Amino acid sequence: YSARALVAMPGRLLLSFLLVAVASGAYDGVGRQLISRGSFPKGFVFGTASSSYQYEGGAMEGGRGPSIWDNFTHQNPAKIVDGSNGDVAVDSYHLYKEDVRLMKDMGMDAYRFSISWTRILPDGTLRGGVNREGVEYYNNLINELLSRGVQPFVTLFHWDSPQALEDKYGGFLNPNIINDYKDYAEVCFREFGDRVKHWITFNEPWAVSVAGYAMGVLAPGRCSPWEMGKCSAGDSASEPYTVSHHQLLAHAAAVKLYRKKYKVINESPSVLFVHERSDD
Ligand SMILES: *[C@@H]1O[C@H](CO)[C@@H](O)[C@H](O)[C@H]1NC(C)=O
Repeated sequence: YSARALVAMPGRLLLSFLLVAVASGAYDGVGRQLISRGSFPKGFVFGTASSSYQYEGGAMEGGRGPSIWDNFTHQNPAKIVDGSNGDVAVDSYHLYKEDVRLMKDMGMDAYRFSISWTRILPDGTLRGGVNREGVEYYNNLINELLSRGVQPFVTLFHWDSPQALEDKYGGFLNPNIINDYKDYAEVCFREFGDRVKHWITFNEPWAVSVAGYAMGVLAPGRCSPWEMGKCSAGDSASEPYTVSHHQLLAHAAAVKLYRKKYKVINESPSVLFVHERSDD
């Protein structure tokens, strides 16, 4: 559940925090290679990255509905290293302007953040209504980034699926999630797609399946009785596969919709892809 990310895209790289040295001609006085922007290929994008539940806070504010991470942290503090939760986190919900200023001061070109599904659709569904206050928060963040020349890279799903859909049909265990995810993605494409040109459909889907449904150590904390996660329900032998299958189908549904309806011809390439962690 790391903020470090290496995101590979056609002709581009977005690298946060961990920089890997590439060949360069310059050395310092004791023979160490010097790294500068010039050491990287043209078009290389430097950025920082975050996820909504770890950074935003404002969990009960602005009309946001609960996600499975709200329930997981509150009901299983023993499964969180320091027993804490994301109610306030680093309060980016209120401090986003300062955060963007810091990114600019650090010389970043891009910011990868995720949208909280339940800040946009509080009960997870389109039928439940779009929360305009949530849309406004992301509009403000995106506009703040662009006004400082920082490109937004937006993750649609970074593990915080709606608790209402978990209660209603078991969330990603049920194929209904595909259509609800597609609806949610469409609201985001429609509201933010005029300014956001880089979309990420799923962050680390493997981690959701394995840690959430086999080991039981991440939300929604499901696993078989013999697993280390000490779960009240689950089946580590089958559920991770079901959840992976539905994540892939939801990804495909969103990509198909985007290509058909929202990709603007002659715009800079807008890419949709599943982001997989590369740091362990
Ligand atoms: C999730 O958390 C809310 C708020 O604490 C609680 O009312 C609800 O019963 C929880 N749902 C489940 C399935 O545990």
